[in-house]
This record gives sequence, C-alpha cells and structure tokens, in this order.
Amino acid sequence: MRVLFASSEVYPLIKTGGLADVSGALPAALAEAGTDIRILMPGYPQAIDAAGAKRVVGTLGDPLGLGSEARLLAGKLPGSGVPVWLVDCPALYGRDGGPYQDAQGHDWPDNGLRFALLSWAAAHLCTENSPVKWRPHILHCNDWQTGLAPAYLHAWKVDNRPGTVFTIHNIAYQGQFLPSLVGRLGFSPEMYAMDGFEYYDTLSFLKSGLFYSDRLTTVSPRYAREIQTPAFGCGMDGLLAWRAADLAGILNGADYQVWNPASDSYLAFPYEAGDAKGKAANKAALQTELGLSLSADTPLMVIVSRLNDHKGMDLVMAALPGIVKLGAQVAVIGTGDRALEDGFKAVAEAYPTQVAARIGYSEALAHQMMAGGDMLLMPSRFEPCGLTQFYALRYGTVPIAHATGGLADTLVDTGYDTLMTGTANGFVFEHANAGAFRWAVERAVALYRQPDQWRKIVKACIGQDFSWGQSASRYQELYKSLAGAASGCKRS
Ligand code: ADP
Ligand code: GLC
Repeated sequence: MRVLFASSEVYPLIKTGGLADVSGALPAALAEAGTDIRILMPGYPQAIDAAGAKRVVGTLGDPLGLGSEARLLAGKLPGSGVPVWLVDCPALYGRDGGPYQDAQGHDWPDNGLRFALLSWAAAHLCTENSPVKWRPHILHCNDWQTGLAPAYLHAWKVDNRPGTVFTIHNIAYQGQFLPSLVGRLGFSPEMYAMDGFEYYDTLSFLKSGLFYSDRLTTVSPRYAREIQTPAFGCGMDGLLAWRAADLAGILNGADYQVWNPASDSYLAFPYEAGDAKGKAANKAALQTELGLSLSADTPLMVIVSRLNDHKGMDLVMAALPGIVKLGAQVAVIGTGDRALEDGFKAVAEAYPTQVAARIGYSEALAHQMMAGGDMLLMPSRFEPCGLTQFYALRYGTVPIAHATGGLADTLVDTGYDTLMTGTANGFVFEHANAGAFRWAVERAVALYRQPDQWRKIVKACIGQDFSWGQSASRYQELYKSLAGAASGCKRS
C-alpha cells in the first residue's frame, strides 16, 4: 500500500504544535507496519536542511503564476528515515519566521497561495503528470493547509485517482480566503458554491477538505462526536453531521522514542518511569533553573502550551492567585496571546519563588518540565486530542484537565473507586470554568499530600501505553477499505 502523507509541519524538521508530532511519528509507525509512505511538506529552508534534501527529484512548474518554477526535493526524516518530499518554492517558503506567521505573529499575507501550492503539489503527485513514478493508492491530507488537494483531484477529474483521507487536527483553524483566489488557483467558479468550498462568502480550505475527501478522521473518538455539534463544530457541524458515516475518531499516539524519561537527552538526570528519586532530582533541577524555591514536597504544576483561551489559559490565570495560596508552585513555558503572556509574567514577578513564566518555545524546557513537574495543567476548553498529557503520563506527571476531546478519552478522574481499582490517572473536571478547575487543583494537592495515594496515581499514569502501533493499524484498516474504491470523483 502506497500512501502520500501531506502536512504543513513535521517533527523534527519544523514544529509549532501537535500536528508536527503526529506528522513525524504516524508515518514512521505506518512505515514500520509495512506501509510504503512518503511525506510531502513545504520546503521551508530549515526543513530542507534538516531533511538533508539536496536531491532535486523533478520540477513542478509554475501552477500559480508566481514567475518562478517550484521543484520537488527529496530527503529523509531524521530518526525514522521515512522519505520526505519538500516543495521547493523560495518565493513562498524561503523566509525567516514561522510556517504560518512572521516573527511578529502576523499571518503571512500570502498563506492562501503558500498552502494552495502544497495542496496542488499533493494532488499533482497523484496524476500521470507527476515528476515521480511512485503513485499513491491513498492521499492522506492533514488540516486546512492541505484541504485543497482533494478539490484539485475533483477538478481535474483524474482517472484512477487515489482514495483521499482528510484528518482534522483542530477544526478552529479553517484557512479562509477571499473568493478572488478561486480563479487564481485554477478552479472553476462552479466549485465556489455551498456544495463545494464556499463558506460564508469565503474560500475555505478546511471546508474543501471536508467536502471533497472520501473519508474524514479526527484525532480522538470524543472529538469526532463533539465536532458534529454547534458548540464544538466551529460552523462545520452541519457538514460533519451530514458526513458522519465517513467520519472516524482515531486517537493519536505518543512517540516514546522522543518522549522517554530514561533516554531523554534534555534531562540532567534521565530516569526510569516510576523511579521516584530520579524524578525528584529533575524536580530540584527544574526549581533551580527557574529560580523557584527548592522544595521537594511543594507540589510543582507545569504548563507546556500555546497560551490562549482554547487551551483554557485564562482559567489558569483566574485560578492562579488561589493556587499560589494553596502553597503550590506553577511553571509555564509557552507563547500565545499577549495579554496571557503578560499576565503570567506579572504573576511570576510578584511571586518569583512560586511562579515561573518562560515566554517562548523551547524543546529542552518542555522535556524538563515534564520530568520535573508533579502535575500538568491542561484545562483546555476543547482539545482534539492533546499530546502533552501522553508525555506527562509517561514521565509520571499527573494531568489536571478538562473532560473534553482526547483528554476525556485518555484520562480517568481520581475518585474513591478509581483509586481503589488503580485506574485513576488524573484529575478531570466537567465544566470549563475557573471554579471547577480550581476544585480539581485542590483535590490534586490534597492527594499529593498523601504520598501512598499519590504513588498509586503515578503508577497508573506510567503504566499506560499510548504508543502509535494501535492507531497506525486503525489508519491501515481505513486505507485498505478505501484503496481501489475511489476511481472517479465520489461527490460529482
Ligand atoms: P497543540 O497542537 O494544540 O498545541 P498538543 O498537545 O497536541 O497541542 O501538542 C503540543 C506540542 O507542542 C507538544 O509536543 C508540546 O510539547 C509542544 N509545545 C507547545 N508549546 C511549547 C513550547 N512553548 N515550547 C516547546 N514545546 C511546546
Ligand atoms: C492539534 C490539536 C491537538 C492535537 C494535535 C495533533 O494541534 O489542537 O489537540 O493533539 O493537533 O493531532
């Protein structure tokens, strides 16, 4: 089975969040399980370097009329060796800043063109005009940045086209652009319609993916149900409910090669999961590094997150004075909304031995926080899957989380019964408000102060296995059910 996996970010080549983690680890797990998989992504300069992509595989021409030809470069994913193709187009991708935004945090104004080219290239590699002979049975697209690929296959009426799978990692990001782009991207005006990629007078890349793909998946079973409701669907709930028979929730996994406390090169003291002394040494190192008071029995709560309301960071801000009063420590590494960044910094300045805020992105600190923390705070209002809770569990750091999406699917609240049965692996609250969150924190601190009970919870955390193997087989089953079934456009 040949699968082309298209994504806008892939760890360790470039990463802004969980999409990159998945786009690095899932293809590797699929390759290990026998799938012939190639990744397609934009040729950001650092990604070209990191993938060692010096070989030009072919030209892609100038489909968007940019005045220069795009090329396809071939490299490999460090670690797993999965083949990666990068769309080399310096006019669109050769710039400093992030994959979606400039250094000031503003979206690149030409994101429509940038990700249309990625989508175009993904579709083009599925046709007989492709510069490479390798032709996929399945095109697997991820998030809005690749959402036009199935639309191109539809528009071109490709014979024997591959089956198309579109995975929603986060429905809140939709890629909406002015309708004037429709012609520029080579589409006929008929596709700019309700039964197409038009969405409230805009061209929606996300809707395109949802409408034109054969199958839809999202990253947890619970989120698959949630996005069919107005509360979570971000306007796509009607379309998704209509496509419910084609929609499946497949839980993400964790890459335990990268997230393993015993072999973690970012840690001063790598430790076997469950080794309490090893964890204590990392906690002391983290407290020292962050300037928090050095105290083995003060509960240390960590946050590794984008700082915005989606992640419930406003709830943390609201609950923070109370958490400080409880005598706990809180350490944050993240970037995001300016008000939240400033808010965390201000509290850290007011309570320097109890609260630390590092505004920025640091892989090293993310790993050190997982190792040194006692609890991970994750009060997300919605969370398609969430990966940091998987990492926390493996590092013996107990998640405190809102019961939504993948958090609800992976965490079991601590109560009398679940403690007795050894299944409690977190503190989970039902309603996304500061009071409910604060109550979960208080329960966690109370249990932390009973070391025998706490050990039981930590044991349940580290005992869980969220490795990618099982999810990879679910994707393989999906691919199998689709390969060969998609000759001609299903929705035409
Ligand atoms: P999302 O993709 O919605 O941000 P996930 O939990 O799926 O949330 O994935 C977030 C990923 O990004 C994790 O690998 C996490 O460790 C990482 N991450 C988030 N913020 C930072 C940061 N400031 N520094 C380093 N890593 C971060
Ligand atoms: C998105 C979601 C996150 C998920 C990740 C990977 O960024 O917000 O919940 O874990 O994608 O699928």
